[in-house]
Amino acid sequence: MTSLLVNIDHVATLRNARREQFPDPVHAAAICEMAGADGVVFHLREDRRHITERDVRLLKETVQGRLDFELSTAEEIVNICCDTMPDVATLVPERRDEVTTEGGLDVRTARERLEIVIPRLLDAGIPEISLFVDPDAHQIEMSREVGANCIELHTGDFSNASTFEEQQSEASRLASAARLAHEIGLKVHAGHGLNYRNYPVFGASVRNVEEVSIGFAIIARALMTGLEKAVEEMNAIVKRDYNS
Ligand code: PXP
Repeated sequence: MTSLLVNIDHVATLRNARREQFPDPVHAAAICEMAGADGVVFHLREDRRHITERDVRLLKETVQGRLDFELSTAEEIVNICCDTMPDVATLVPERRDEVTTEGGLDVRTARERLEIVIPRLLDAGIPEISLFVDPDAHQIEMSREVGANCIELHTGDFSNASTFEEQQSEASRLASAARLAHEIGLKVHAGHGLNYRNYPVFGASVRNVEEVSIGFAIIARALMTGLEKAVEEMNAIVKRDYNS
């Protein structure tokens, strides 16, 4: 069964927009877990636009389920990740002028740096090192070559599809990519832009996904329905039996 990890960055974005101490992403993480989420994801950005080191420290102490630390390969952030020892370290591309992560890593271009950073994260004792990549066979094979033991499939193109045909074609790209990753021994995670409407199509099409990371859709719905209900509803969709 696929696990749901909730990305709580947007709670910190709201807090920081008013330079307030609330809403607190640490409180949000606890509510997500109490509502049934299997864990929590955060991205400590180099510019600290949402999650801060204080949040990372408290999340590490308080999250009871799985903790997924998204990071770039910047030296300072890699050091913080090694000290934090999350369950998963997910390496993502990061640009200061982007609104959210745009596209997967280009593993070929990043190869030299990844071959330094991945062994450091593993040596620190972090069991799962995941690369956020597009559903592309070459990127997946290279992910294994550079030492990752997991990938997170970028579902952005699937989520942004504007026609039924496009959505089906992106779903089948994701399905092939997940199959390949699974066959070559990589764990498969997925995320970006998944929501209450498109998840059933994703779930029915893509096998072998152990974990999904969903943020914006859940936090946006939480403004209307409350966080507990928003997580429960998404968890029910993720946990549906898509094989029958
Ligand atoms: N996975 C990665 C690597 C991301 O960068 C993000 C966005 O922060 C997500 C998953 C979650 O995307 P969304 O907020 O659109 O659900």
